[in-house]
Amino acid sequence: MVGSAMCRRLAASRCEILTASRQTLDLTQANATNDYFADQRPDTVIFASAKVGGILANATFPVEFLTDNLMMAVNTINAAYRHGVERFLFLGSTCIYPRDCEQPIKEGSLLSGPLESTNEAYALAKIAGLKLCQYYRRQHGVMFHSAMPTNLYGPGDNYHPDHSHVMPALIRRFHEAKQAGKSSVQLWGTGTPRREFLHVDDLADAIVHLLSLESPPDWVNVGTGTDITILELAQLVAKTVGYEGEIQTDPSRPDGTPVKCTDVTLLNESGWKHKIDLTKGLKHTYEAFLEETLAGRLRSA
Ligand SMILES: NC(=O)c1ccc[n+]([C@@H]2O[C@H](COP(=O)([O-])OP(=O)(O)OC[C@H]3O[C@@H](n4cnc5c(N)ncnc54)[C@H](OP(=O)(O)O)[C@@H]3O)[C@@H](O)[C@H]2O)c1
Repeated sequence: MVGSAMCRRLAASRCEILTASRQTLDLTQANATNDYFADQRPDTVIFASAKVGGILANATFPVEFLTDNLMMAVNTINAAYRHGVERFLFLGSTCIYPRDCEQPIKEGSLLSGPLESTNEAYALAKIAGLKLCQYYRRQHGVMFHSAMPTNLYGPGDNYHPDHSHVMPALIRRFHEAKQAGKSSVQLWGTGTPRREFLHVDDLADAIVHLLSLESPPDWVNVGTGTDITILELAQLVAKTVGYEGEIQTDPSRPDGTPVKCTDVTLLNESGWKHKIDLTKGLKHTYEAFLEETLAGRLRSA
């Protein structure tokens, strides 16, 4: 999702875009990764590869979430340094901050407390990658740095029925409920937790901005700084999709952290602010969902 958004964002820029899908380059393979850099010699790298997934996927496959993400990060960062990459932007995530950190989340909260147990493996790998970039910058003076995006949504998202994030999961559920003429849709938990969402095209724009800064922070939050309850989000998705039935909450299911929102002061002060509001972004995302479904290329794996 992020890689495609970067290509859309950079399409009109004066740069040659090199992309590497998993089919052409498995980044868990150190030799293949090294050979790719030796051959292609990129001068800037945006590291948007990762094994990602929701709570269930993270809880079921912690071994793969730690090893794949760790190997991908270490292989790519090392190869980038070895082959003279001038600028490297690593994608972290706000879900790697400690579980109980102060809200809104500031960059300084990283490593200040225990991680959320459901995505600990993923977080450990991401923290290692982000720190490796910081260490390269400190030890070798290269401009390797990171961005910490909040929950993303947009075209190209993964709509797997069990393994997707909350936004695509809701879009799919309400769309299918509308099609099936269902009278109600059930929402896990109380609907009261507050979450923040950023359109992936905004992230791509923020990344271009961060790459243009002479001395960016080692890592910087990328979000909107505003949150919404899961119930409000479900209502907005239902409205966007055109679902008119009832939304029922299920308090017997776990809620997760009550509030998760980023402090975007550092990013705003560096000269960037998000442009796509949630209503507009959701409309755009649902249109993309319909297009992807129609074309038979909706991601659901
Ligand atoms: N989505 C979010 O809400 C969110 C929020 C914060 C941060 N991020 C971060 O943003 C980055 C991109 O996420 P995304 O949402 O764009 O995920 P995505 O759509 O799943 O993209 C990840 C890409 O990495 C590729 N990949 C996985 N394993 C690989 C391997 N061994 N070698 C080479 N490529 C491999 C995947 O290929 P396959 O499709 O073949 O598996 C996929 O194309 C990640 O670092 C993620 O942690 C995402």
